Amino acid sequence: MLEKLEALYKEATAALDGITTSDALREWEIKYLGKKGAVTEIMRGVGGLPKEERANLGKRANEIKNALSTGYAEREVLVKEQELAQDLETGAVDVTLPGRPRPVGGLHPSTQMLRNFYTIWAEMGFQVYRSRDVEDDDTNFTLLNIPPHHPARDMWDTFHTTTPGVILRTHTSPGQIRAMREFGENGTQPIRVILPGMCYRYEQVSVRSEIQFNQVEGLAIGKNIRMTDLKGTISEFAKRMFSPDTRVRYRSSYFPFTEPSMEVDAECLLCHGEGCAMCKYSGWLEIAGCGMVHPTVLRNGGYDPEVWSGFAFGMGPERMINLKFGVQDIRYYWGNDLRFLEQF
Ligand code: FA5
Repeated sequence: MLEKLEALYKEATAALDGITTSDALREWEIKYLGKKGAVTEIMRGVGGLPKEERANLGKRANEIKNALSTGYAEREVLVKEQELAQDLETGAVDVTLPGRPRPVGGLHPSTQMLRNFYTIWAEMGFQVYRSRDVEDDDTNFTLLNIPPHHPARDMWDTFHTTTPGVILRTHTSPGQIRAMREFGENGTQPIRVILPGMCYRYEQVSVRSEIQFNQVEGLAIGKNIRMTDLKGTISEFAKRMFSPDTRVRYRSSYFPFTEPSMEVDAECLLCHGEGCAMCKYSGWLEIAGCGMVHPTVLRNGGYDPEVWSGFAFGMGPERMINLKFGVQDIRYYWGNDLRFLEQF
């Protein structure tokens, strides 16, 4: 059997050396390496051999198969080059024909919007800080002034992991605590960061709500930071994001980690305040939750609230794309439908 194999190897190598066309190459491959090829047949027979012969022959058959496959690949390059050179010489290839365009991928609309955020906030002096997706319960809630069993926890339906106390973050706000502790140098340094990233909520999926979505958190800590700084900053962001004449309004609201808290609306981009289906005939569209950082949160981040103050905000990039481009359904973002994604 071994002799037969070696003879076959010699024969196949000699045949391969003489090949000059793609057709002949294909025939050679079928004859020796194909499913019913000579080498494959021998390999199939190895199982039926006595034990002592089996290992030896199996090993050699594998070596030969690998050597022939490599020889085939090398020959293929050579033959293709020769054929192309021939075609060019005889004019069979028209090099003046325009090339066939290859479809290229694009960035996901959320990625594009996030990059938009980074640019605007960088221009306004904010650095990007990436906090973690998998959080502990303390940082996501307790340190943000939401103690266990506090009814405010109902505002965020949480995905728990099998490890007690470890959850998927329900918002990017826990990044406030991490940024303050990491960059505050024990509450002695000012901070200006944005915290982008995916958040997870065990919610009923609907036109407006997904179980995973991006948020961009903002945090500014300093001495003498006031609500007017917050309002000025968000209003300026809205102008840069939408258009220079965009008006915004602030409504009082509640978040446990800010005091006072507000919700921000921008004038409807479609009807400019007249009222339309997109803004549910109110003339306004919600763009952010925000407020002055709560003294308890400042303390948990290592700052003395008697000396330091700050503001924070949270925005949803997917909802922002909805506003900017009139997307009616948030479920499109993770639906993987190219007809939607290719429009961006
Ligand atoms: C918060 O999550 C607060 N952490 C925001 C905040 C930060 C307030 C700092 C004050 C200071 P809220 O649950 O409203 O707030 O979510 C903020 C934004 O995330 C929403 O305006 C919306 O754009 C987006 N968002 C929230 N839930 C979903 C969802 N299920 N699907 C898509 N986007 C969502």
